[in-house]
Amino acid sequence: MLEGIRWCDVLLSLLTEPVDRALLAANPALRGVANYAVGFNNIDVAAATALGLPVSNTPDVLTDSTADLTWALLLAAARRIPEAQKYMKAGRYKLWGPNLLLGADVSPGGTGRRKVLGVIGFGRIGAAVAKRAVGFDMDVIAYDPHARQQIEASGIARWAELDDLLAESDFISLHPLLTKETHHLINEAALKRMKPTAILVNVSRGPVVDEAALVRALRERWIAGAALDVFENEPAMADGLAECENAVIVPHIASATVGTRDKMATMAAENALAHLRGERAPNVVNPVVYSSGEYRARLAPVSAAQ
Ligand code: DGY
Repeated sequence: MLEGIRWCDVLLSLLTEPVDRALLAANPALRGVANYAVGFNNIDVAAATALGLPVSNTPDVLTDSTADLTWALLLAAARRIPEAQKYMKAGRYKLWGPNLLLGADVSPGGTGRRKVLGVIGFGRIGAAVAKRAVGFDMDVIAYDPHARQQIEASGIARWAELDDLLAESDFISLHPLLTKETHHLINEAALKRMKPTAILVNVSRGPVVDEAALVRALRERWIAGAALDVFENEPAMADGLAECENAVIVPHIASATVGTRDKMATMAAENALAHLRGERAPNVVNPVVYSSGEYRARLAPVSAAQ
């Protein structure tokens, strides 16, 4: 990439590519970075801003598909769908029985008790996940130090402090941005606070969870299960995770629908073209860059040529 970037006017990056200061500084003629993802933790945005580079992402379009997959994972873990499918495909279904593959209720169901969904990170996706809980007659509590007002005004979720959310939730769904503050937010202590019947769902970023601690939690049944779309050292998984029957694991497919990925591609291309033309990108994440001398200096050679 360090070699290739010298030939680029704009970098259209995937979420798997670390775009660090060294890469950004390698081409003084670069005009911007268009990330094909809503998350942009792979990019050193502070360095990009200092270097006069606009960075863009693909928000909104993937909110629904990501919230839908969150629910697919939650339900799959609660009702043990992957285990049940494995059982069928192995030809082991010979006799129905009342205790075959018992799972957990999501709706009140036979327990008659409304289940509690804890949402950590109440941005667009967290809020969309919370909205879907209404159909399951769940009580939703949410924690997000940057969105307390939105939570309280949502009419869907009730604010909870993190420790209370961990202790009270039947299902915990993670949607924070990955930052220094949220790195390993779910660590051994957090896992030990959860109910032994709790199910943890992560569609945000892998490093929000201490994956080695999660493997211990799943093996030793500190919690009942986990469903993960993202991994700490993606595409690798922590030792032992793949062997945990109570883990549902999929390869970062939260936004992977034809309609969503088509739209993300179009958005990333539109952002890239705006960077190329020296215009304000529709989805810039560091708009402050446009008033910087560094940004103007990057455009200067083209202006002079015009
Ligand atoms: C994103 O866009 O950040 C998602 O993780 C892609 O699925």
